[in-house]
Amino acid sequence: MLELDDIQSGVLRPRPSPYAATYVLFRIDDRHAGRELMRRLGAVVASAAQTTSPAGDAWVSAALTWSGLVALGVPRESLDSFAWEFRQGMAARADALGDSGESSPACWEPPLGSRDVHVIMTALAPDDARLAAALSRARDAYAQLRGVVAIWRQDCHALRTGREPFGYRDAISQPAIAGSGLAPTNSHEAPLAAGEFVLGYPDETGGLPPMPRPDVLGRNGTYVAFRKLHQRVAAFRRYLRERARDAADEELVAAKMMGRWRSGAPLARCPLHDDAELGGDPRRNDDFAYGDDAVGYKTPPGAHVRRTNPRDAAVAGVVRLHRMLRRGTAYGPELPEGVLDDDGVDRGLMFAFVGAHLGRQFEFVQSEWVGGGDFLGLGDVKDPVIGAHDGSGSFSIPRRPIPRRLAGLSRFVVTRGGEYGFLPSLRALRWLAELKG
Ligand code: HEM
Repeated sequence: MLELDDIQSGVLRPRPSPYAATYVLFRIDDRHAGRELMRRLGAVVASAAQTTSPAGDAWVSAALTWSGLVALGVPRESLDSFAWEFRQGMAARADALGDSGESSPACWEPPLGSRDVHVIMTALAPDDARLAAALSRARDAYAQLRGVVAIWRQDCHALRTGREPFGYRDAISQPAIAGSGLAPTNSHEAPLAAGEFVLGYPDETGGLPPMPRPDVLGRNGTYVAFRKLHQRVAAFRRYLRERARDAADEELVAAKMMGRWRSGAPLARCPLHDDAELGGDPRRNDDFAYGDDAVGYKTPPGAHVRRTNPRDAAVAGVVRLHRMLRRGTAYGPELPEGVLDDDGVDRGLMFAFVGAHLGRQFEFVQSEWVGGGDFLGLGDVKDPVIGAHDGSGSFSIPRRPIPRRLAGLSRFVVTRGGEYGFLPSLRALRWLAELKG
């Protein structure tokens, strides 16, 4: 049984809809103050078993980077027991993640990717007003703490359209987790072993994943990959306009690139026409497989959702070893509908990918499935929506008698920064607060 009362709520619980969110990064200059911050955060972080939050209207999560654990004075042998990728930090993994050129850490927004990022706090509330009230209470709590400094903040919110900035419905598909009590979104996928997402339980290989020591620190914790991803909305819209024959074709091209219509309706269930009702129906909009569509006449194998979760399609590798929980929230203002010129404003998504295996989950999906097409037998063909294209990228839409080929893809998504975090259990937060020395 999963110890829900010890796991942070943000690991397992879906986010409410709609909601506003804020990410705050802290630097710990004094380990005693850092431990006091752990104590205070421990008092407001809800467990996955709680239906109300100790922080009132807000739901708070707390993650630490490897340098954060160092700053708290965690003993060396314990530090060395954390996953290798986590100890490196996301910036050091740029080559593996395809963060090059404009997306390279040298271009990231400071202090993202620097060793100054120690604690990542996320606060969610149903609306901006309630979030602001919760944050001002939190500010009072940490403002008097000398030796802990808030160094960055990112406010996020659900867009008026209820979609992500490119215009697609998001937050539909999540892996089901055995023992979590959460209903699966896709009846074709058997729930995944809890150890894929929470440390201390058997995973899909049948074994216990490596866990940070001591047990009280590792058990019921997990890893998280944070990414700030800037979206070139005007460029994406222009690309669709230039490649499509008319407005209806524009929507079809957008759907083929994503694998879902912008309404959220999956091509696997309605390949020819959009079905907005299906797109908005949580009982049906993720309930599908690709088994009857090997070539991809309905959903192209290279489409974003099919390559990031090929489900039952034949690909090189075992899909169940590369699943992850996804939490994304938009930042920046909407680009008004129909605008095709860039207004220079920063907008995009703040992402959190949660899982017990950074290497074979987030890193694998980002590098192998998003950054290339070998697993599909397509060579170096990247994800059409989020791939790091240089203007010469292409995307093939299977069609009879000959496929339709879209050329000239450029980079629509730029990494602005990111960090790997460890989401400790509630007991571990207390253990960190009580460190001595
Ligand atoms: C700004 C960048 C991104 C945008 C706009 C975006 C957009 C979307 C949308 C609209 C969906 C469909 C909704 C759903 O199935 O829940 C989706 C699904 C998904 N995305 Fe992304 N995404 C982005 C980045 C990423 C990245 C970086 C990864 C992984 C490295 C990723 C992995 C996934 C996965 C695993 C799914 C679920 C697929 C499924 O289960 O069918 N996405 N994304």
